[in-house]
Amino acid sequence: MSLPNSHEALLRNRHLLQGRVALLGVIAGELLADLPIAGMAMSENAGVCAGLAVREKWQVCFGYDDPALVAGSFDTLVVFLPKARAELDLRLALARWLAFPGARLVLVGEKKEGIAGAVKQLKAVAPEATKTDSARHCQVWCADAIEPLPEFTLESWMTWTHIDCKSVGIDVAGLPGIFSLGELDEGTRRLLETLDDYPPGAGPILDFACGAGVLGAWLHRWCERQGHPPVTVDGVDVQSQAVICARATYRRNGVSGRILASDGLPAGEGTWPVILSNPPFHSGVRTDLSMTERFLREVVRHLAPGGEVRLVANSFLPYEPLMKRCIGPVERLQEDRRFTVYRAFRRS
Ligand SMILES: C[S@@+](CC[C@H](N)C(=O)[O-])C[C@H]1O[C@@H](n2cnc3c(N)ncnc32)[C@H](O)[C@@H]1O
Repeated sequence: MSLPNSHEALLRNRHLLQGRVALLGVIAGELLADLPIAGMAMSENAGVCAGLAVREKWQVCFGYDDPALVAGSFDTLVVFLPKARAELDLRLALARWLAFPGARLVLVGEKKEGIAGAVKQLKAVAPEATKTDSARHCQVWCADAIEPLPEFTLESWMTWTHIDCKSVGIDVAGLPGIFSLGELDEGTRRLLETLDDYPPGAGPILDFACGAGVLGAWLHRWCERQGHPPVTVDGVDVQSQAVICARATYRRNGVSGRILASDGLPAGEGTWPVILSNPPFHSGVRTDLSMTERFLREVVRHLAPGGEVRLVANSFLPYEPLMKRCIGPVERLQEDRRFTVYRAFRRS
């Protein structure tokens, strides 16, 4: 498999790597096999981390709160440009906190992902940074003797947003890079509206691709308002920030349920009578239906007999035939030109 451009660009510049090396934001584990050194590789994607774990000699960290991240312990910090601008500031702060005094900082990113604009953010923390290479549609920037950051606390990056739907209000945690930061996504809103109009059966419920935990927190408050007993809503997401935020959202709203980090449905976690999702359909900037198609093909294994799957999607996305084939007869609970909310019950 070919490496992403940013990883190829780093390999061309491997002479920049000195001493103990930390790679922040790795997206393909194959990179490590081609590096003649060892160190620490961090990814905020649980699937990438699972792939990295097989690389001997490399320590693997999942996201920004991994307990194995230790201050002042690396001589070279490589930061791969993340998609969200705000996440770059977070990644640079983590890099500076991990840096040994006198450490080198290397920033690598693709032109089409905005590396040129990102350099402003780099220069705000490392004014001496210079461009060392431009290749594979990427730029590589390097700064020596960066100033370490004495403290890095993820809580100080967390923001809270109050959202309301059908007069049920909840507080939702946010971190740079998370889905729909600071607002209620329109697709999520449609799904919540149908939960009020067509309440799901008794839980426990699974929220697949839970993001910041909006569905679980809203259902918890909705049950309270209806005078129903509290419902357990477990959540699964591949992204570290989502897992951290969903746990924080659950704590603040008093929700019961586990939040699991998993690429796809979690193996060996049993079955649920109700599975809800506002599933992903992007990978980077491109539409990518493969994750949701995989979810629909595998979901019956995680669904109790007679159980319900409900999902919201852009109306142009072709999920209905797959739901029918893999789960059972499909109803459209709400639809317009933009979004459709589908429900299917597992054939017994
Ligand atoms: C459209 S967002 C929905 C978030 C949340 N349910 C909401 O409605 O606010 C999709 C979520 O899917 C997650 N995701 C992407 N790929 C995934 C995968 N392979 N396995 C689990 N979650 C994934 C993303 O991290 C993102 O949080």
